[in-house]
Amino acid sequence: MTQAPIRTGEPKGFRSAELGWPELDRIPHPPRRVPLLGDVLGVNRSTPVQESMRYARRLGPVFRRKAFGKEFVFVWGARQAADLADESRFAKHVGLGVANLRPVAGDGLFTAYNHEPNWQLAHDVLAPGFSRDAMAGYHPMMLSVAQRLTEHWDRAAAAGRAVDVPGDMTKLTLETIARTGFGHDFGSFERSRPHPFVTAMVGTLTYAQRLNTVPFPLAPLLLRSASRRNEADIAHLNHTVDELVRARRAIGGGDGDLLDRMLETTHPDTGERLSPQNVRRQVITFLVAGHETTSGALSFALHYLARHPEIAARARAEVDRVWGDTAEPAYEQVARLRYVRRVLDESLRLWPTAPAFSRQARQDTVLAGEHPMRPGAWALVLTPMLHRDPDAWGPDAERFDPDRFDAQAVRSRPAHTFKPFGTGARACIGRQFALHEATLVLGLLLRRYELRADPAYRLRVTERLTLMPEGLRLRPERRAPVREPGSDLRRPVPGTGD
Ligand code: HEM
Repeated sequence: MTQAPIRTGEPKGFRSAELGWPELDRIPHPPRRVPLLGDVLGVNRSTPVQESMRYARRLGPVFRRKAFGKEFVFVWGARQAADLADESRFAKHVGLGVANLRPVAGDGLFTAYNHEPNWQLAHDVLAPGFSRDAMAGYHPMMLSVAQRLTEHWDRAAAAGRAVDVPGDMTKLTLETIARTGFGHDFGSFERSRPHPFVTAMVGTLTYAQRLNTVPFPLAPLLLRSASRRNEADIAHLNHTVDELVRARRAIGGGDGDLLDRMLETTHPDTGERLSPQNVRRQVITFLVAGHETTSGALSFALHYLARHPEIAARARAEVDRVWGDTAEPAYEQVARLRYVRRVLDESLRLWPTAPAFSRQARQDTVLAGEHPMRPGAWALVLTPMLHRDPDAWGPDAERFDPDRFDAQAVRSRPAHTFKPFGTGARACIGRQFALHEATLVLGLLLRRYELRADPAYRLRVTERLTLMPEGLRLRPERRAPVREPGSDLRRPVPGTGD
């Protein structure tokens, strides 16, 4: 699919809202501003998203915050966010956390500025890697990685042990994108500690988030040792990726996966290829973007399933009905798990694991008929609050209810109220990949285990640009003994827990 190039001619780097919002004074901000520093009283640096959610509740659908002389505008009202989704007047803005990832991901797809030619080139070359046919090709590999997870959970179940849900989901999603995209095996399930690639990745994401919480000119001084660690992390990521590419070149090509596309495919119109430096950035981008958010989405969904046994029972009944006796569900059988998919959507509603995206004006315009903006002025869409706006989701928006996503309920809501994958030309390229993988894995886990929650656990959300349930542990119990020979992904006998 070829997208029209976005050319806004925007300048790079951070632009404070004073420059782009002529009537900024009309936008509310937190009380008790500190001169020079801004809205920093009581700020918790490790949970900026949840802090912004608290401000959002007090200040309304459009508000602003100031930190160290930088002022920025947040938008979460459904009406205003829908206006920002108008691609003819707005485009992606590479700002805040995303811009902080430029040293590691450069002009890779996620972090590219709209005007950089490598965005369109890479988009056109890589989009076919996310077609329906490509997905069907990834399905068997997704199944085989899921089998490693269930082997691991079977051992925990047999020993009556609880499992570390975010840790295991991260292993699963990293192995899945590494295997399907790059023919690589990180051996995550054979390790007792996270793979060094994951440690380096978490390091760079956390550092990128921290950069937003210190005054920009002082960052090199205040974060001196963190910055040195960050450089070492980036070097590790680069080294891992260079090895992976070297190994692929040495064998002269793989089976047509994403890496083959990056190395060999030329643009259908221009005949251009991705440069070696850009390939490195794309591989890092896909390894990171392709697993961190899906892992969080699966973890939140498992938390809610364990907390709501009636919802889990309904989802499990669907899996038993749709998959029947199939030892290994076929590609087409995954999309037929409609209720499981609603559970996933509802989890992504309450905790969209990429919790914000930014939009900038392409021209002089007025946001939702209320706030004038100059070209290049931008706002951050605070997705967890957009997904809780009572105007779109009703007065009980905090309640977990997958039926909000049945077809009729979806039709009755205004457009652009559910945006976990961003919007427009720069929306998530891996959306179908993530949804297929996550629905498949939830189906497999529901059919194999009862999930026992720790009654003392209270959901705590940790932030490192992405969101994740902190310290979530569940005790899986096998529903039935293994029956069929020759496969480990077998259908248990419903209702016969052991
Ligand atoms: C539940 C899982 C996922 C969520 C919630 C998610 C969310 C998002 C969001 C919100 C954006 C837009 C960011 C912006 O506007 O600044 C995005 C872009 C992107 N995502 Fe995802 N994503 C997920 C899974 C994946 C997967 C599995 C892949 C790859 C296999 C992927 C690759 C990308 C890439 C490359 C972009 C940049 C696209 C572009 O600008 O052209 N994501 N994602």
